[in-house]
Formats: sequence, structure tokens, C-alpha cells
Amino acid sequence: MEIKTFNYLPDDAKNIRQAVFVDEQGFIEEFDDKDKDSLHIVLYENGEPAAACRVLFDDSKQCYMIGRVAVLKEYRKNHLGSLLLDTAEEYIRTKGGKLCAVSAQCRAEAFYSKSGYKAEGDMYYEEYCPHIFMKKIL
Ligand SMILES: CC(C)(COP(=O)(O)OP(=O)(O)OC[C@H]1O[C@@H](n2cnc3c(N)ncnc32)[C@H](O)[C@@H]1OP(=O)(O)O)[C@@H](O)C(=O)NCCC(=O)NCCS
Repeated sequence: MEIKTFNYLPDDAKNIRQAVFVDEQGFIEEFDDKDKDSLHIVLYENGEPAAACRVLFDDSKQCYMIGRVAVLKEYRKNHLGSLLLDTAEEYIRTKGGKLCAVSAQCRAEAFYSKSGYKAEGDMYYEEYCPHIFMKKIL
């Protein structure tokens, strides 16, 4: 297991997100301007890219947001997803962040709950997919 961080969107993260969010889940507006301002985290298993997420400070919410959390299908249920969250939270702590949040797909709510995130507010839609805002005090 290797963890790499990038201050630009690397092809490895791009390919994972394309496979998971676009090809598997059908999202269209996957890549956006926030990518250029984010820290990108990629996990490698035996040298192969397996999981990725991004982290950025959200001015309007005044907290760090962890987003685009994706584990390739064949690597799921091996705690790579929770390792991504742990790594992102550690980075946020080093930046002095005390709070982080996710815009979670409702179907992934239990995954985030297991890492200590609490749902807040009403469900809303992003690209026709139900989401819920969740946050965690670090
Ligand atoms: C959601 C996702 C990131 C989880 O990654 P993962 O590596 O399989 O998750 P982990 O193995 O770290 O799971 C951690 C815990 O959450 C649980 N969990 C994981 N996915 C879950 C789900 N969809 N529903 C309920 N529980 C879940 C696991 O069973 C595990 O529990 P445990 O600690 O008691 O064993 C992965 O399934 C994925 O990439 N899905 C598609 C993209 C997506 O929906 N991303 C979320 C966008 S908001």
C-alpha cells in the first residue's frame, strides 16, 4: 500500500473517477474547477492505482470538504475508502482545520457514519442523485 498526494489532478485519480463516477454511476459533470485548487490523494495497491479522493477548503461553508471519494470496484470492502478519509483528515489537521465535511451520496451515508461523520440538514440532489451533507469535528 502506498499513499501519494498531488497538488494537481493526476491521471491516476482522473482514471479512477472516470471509471467509478462516470462509467459506473453515470455522472456527467465529474471534473470541475475545484480540481485545480484541491489536494488529490491516491492509494496504490501493489503499484496499481486503487482509490482516490480530493480535499479543498470551501469558503462558503468555512470548512474543509473531502470529495470524489472513489474506490475501484475490485478493491472495495478492504478499508481503502476509510483509509482515504483518515489520510484526508490528517492533512486537514496539519492545516489547522478542526472541522471537515462531505456531500455524501445517500447510499454511502453508512460508510461515512462508520468514520464518525454526522448527517445535517435535508437530502438534496446532485445530478439526480440523492445527497446528504455530513460533517465531522476533528
Ligand atoms: C463508498 C466507497 C468509497 C467505500 O469504499 P470501501 O473501501 O469499500 O469502504 P471501506 O472498506 O473502507 O468501508 C468502511 C466501513 O464502511 C462500510 N461500508 C462501506 N461501504 C458501505 C456502503 N455502501 N453501505 C454501508 N456500509 C458501507 C464497510 O462495511 C466498513 O465497515 P466496517 O468498518 O464495519 O468493516 C466505495 O464503495 C465506492 O467507491 N463507491 C462508489 C463511489 C461512491 O459512491 N463514493 C461515495 C461518494 S459520496
